[in-house]
Amino acid sequence: MEIEKSQSPNKSTVQQQILVEKNKNGNLGLFNKLQKERKNLPIFKHRQGLLDKIKSNQISVIAGETGCGKTTQIPQYLIEEGLNKNRMIAVTQPRRVAAITIAQRVAQEMNTTVGNKVGYSVRFEEAVDKNNTKLLYMTDGMLLRETIVDPNLSRFSIIVIDEAHERTINSDLLISLLKQLSERRKDLKIIIMSATIETEKFANFFETENIIYLEGRCHPIEVFYSKKPHADYLDAALNTILQIHFEEQDGDILCFLVGQEDIEDMQQMLEEKIELFPKEAKKLNICTLYAALPSHLQLLAFEKSQEGERKVVLSTNIAETSVTIDGIKYVVDPGLVKTRKYNPNKLIEMLLVVPVSKSSAMQRAGRAGRQSAGKCFRLYTKYTHDTLAEFMLPEILRSNLSTVILQMKAIGIKDVKGFQFIDRPHEDQFIESIENLQQMNALDANENITLHGKEMAELPLEPIYAHFMLVAFATNPNSISVVLSAISLMQVENLFFIPKGAKISLLDVLLRFQLGNSDQLTKVNMLHQYYLAKNKKSFCKENFINQKNIKKALEVRQQLENYFLDILKKRSKKNQKQNQANIQQQSEEQQIQEELAKGNTLKKLQEEHKTAIQQEINTEEFISCIAKGLSVKAAKLNNDGTYTIIRSNIQAYIHPESLLFYSKPKPDYIIFNEVVSTIKTYLRDITEISFSDFKEISK
Ligand code: CDP
Ligand code: MG
Repeated sequence: MEIEKSQSPNKSTVQQQILVEKNKNGNLGLFNKLQKERKNLPIFKHRQGLLDKIKSNQISVIAGETGCGKTTQIPQYLIEEGLNKNRMIAVTQPRRVAAITIAQRVAQEMNTTVGNKVGYSVRFEEAVDKNNTKLLYMTDGMLLRETIVDPNLSRFSIIVIDEAHERTINSDLLISLLKQLSERRKDLKIIIMSATIETEKFANFFETENIIYLEGRCHPIEVFYSKKPHADYLDAALNTILQIHFEEQDGDILCFLVGQEDIEDMQQMLEEKIELFPKEAKKLNICTLYAALPSHLQLLAFEKSQEGERKVVLSTNIAETSVTIDGIKYVVDPGLVKTRKYNPNKLIEMLLVVPVSKSSAMQRAGRAGRQSAGKCFRLYTKYTHDTLAEFMLPEILRSNLSTVILQMKAIGIKDVKGFQFIDRPHEDQFIESIENLQQMNALDANENITLHGKEMAELPLEPIYAHFMLVAFATNPNSISVVLSAISLMQVENLFFIPKGAKISLLDVLLRFQLGNSDQLTKVNMLHQYYLAKNKKSFCKENFINQKNIKKALEVRQQLENYFLDILKKRSKKNQKQNQANIQQQSEEQQIQEELAKGNTLKKLQEEHKTAIQQEINTEEFISCIAKGLSVKAAKLNNDGTYTIIRSNIQAYIHPESLLFYSKPKPDYIIFNEVVSTIKTYLRDITEISFSDFKEISK
């Protein structure tokens, strides 16, 4: 980055040259240090053997302990040997944080900056140089989207599916598609990398015997269990961290927590405790690691601890296998993970906190023994551990398949049920997801993708939100600005941060922005006011808004706006073509499409800035759009104050964090955005709709 900066055109060339040299030397120091580290990784002595096997096989399956160097080293070896043959190498990751941090690390190791030779590409964000990038770390979702546009993935000569053992839907699907592609593109090399789990399964799937096992470097780890189950896992984790800090020898701590919210709570509780530390106590530095954290803050977790200090890293599951933090000697594992779970009988997908599997618990413990003997504190009993499942069920077997099926259809796979999956989803999952897509008019009665479905697949959103956006625009083009904002806000978590002990509740904050009987509109109102605010920082402070997350929402909004305008561009191009051809017979779809394009050409829309953020928000317009667009998320009030979700017949409560939790009388009909199940089942992000809207959508 330094070198880039110094090449600013304002400086004289001599001055520039000096600066470049200086920075080069500065970078060289780091570069040399990193080269030494690279040679010390366990994988280094396998370099030649690895390359030989990869050279002589089209498909390779590589398994190795987390931290041995697969993700960062193998792609570099391939480039050093010229195996990429002037095309790009793609390395997929299940998580965006991993894609970004690893690209940064590898860029350093290759003495370059991210966005040059090494790039990354994640949803709503990328750093790639078309002419220069050789190695692209990307989320599996992004590579999957690329297969829609270019089924041959012709930009790439080598594709590495990393963390394959995590069995995300996207990586499962990619693996299946790559198997097909390997027939068409004999020149394409495919590398499947995983932790030491499920390796044979991948090899069998590809019908290859080319499995490469890399030995790791794992020191003994002592595992401790709780004597009794804990009522409050955060409390137990807090006490364990403090106990380690005061009673154990040097070495950093890694604590697994379920999400950003818990991580922020824990950070605050720890900060409060640290205030009370005696003067002579060792310093405890808190670092956090989760997807929504800006990357420069994520990198702090990877910095070495100073002599006489200790670091505690509060992390989501990302530190389980995706990234490696050096210096960890103690692991605190509450044994929980947040995951999506689909209930096919109830047609609803929920975010649930569930116990980890035995293999996850083992991976987590392994994080403590990378450099020397370590300790793992499991905050559950030995008995509980014995009852854990061996592996997590692959995501594809516990998810709604709507997104997958829509993408498969967009790629051109007609017979989705006959597709060769690594693990085949249940028949019911297919039937329900296809019905679901048909209800949204993304598939027709013959299960063929419609024009609407194709447009939906172009948007990097779950089908339901893509549908919402397009339907809202068709219902009322004027609503698009507000709908773009609402959907963007639905893609980010934790908009507010109310510190413990603050004399204000979330409700008080929401009331300041209330618009209609709607959480969505209220938040849109807040977003628009933030956008217009002169001093954004103080606006956030006054209103307890998490600035980095609201910024994120605006970024997402910008990206969605671009995607949306692209769709309109395509529509008007198509329209022109059709007019030229003067087609007599119009299908229903074409009629709809023309209807949509009528008077709403891209140009007009841009001229009027209909997509831009406006001050005025039309409440009624939005509510009728959300009722139509999100009709599958409608619920109706029961006599006892609970709600019944129309599509699934589930009973649920309004979440206490909703504005409408407090309304009296309770609204009869609502649209919600999310179902959360803890002890009770809650509906989050609610908008009241009218009886006539309700009648309209429940027909
Ligand atoms: O993919 P695998 O788990 O086999 O290992 P890796 O991600 O390639 O990491 C190899 C080593 O690089 C780790 O053990 C860390 O020592 C180091 N590393 C680092 O220090 N900082 C990063 N951001 C990434 C890796
Ligand atoms: Mg890795």
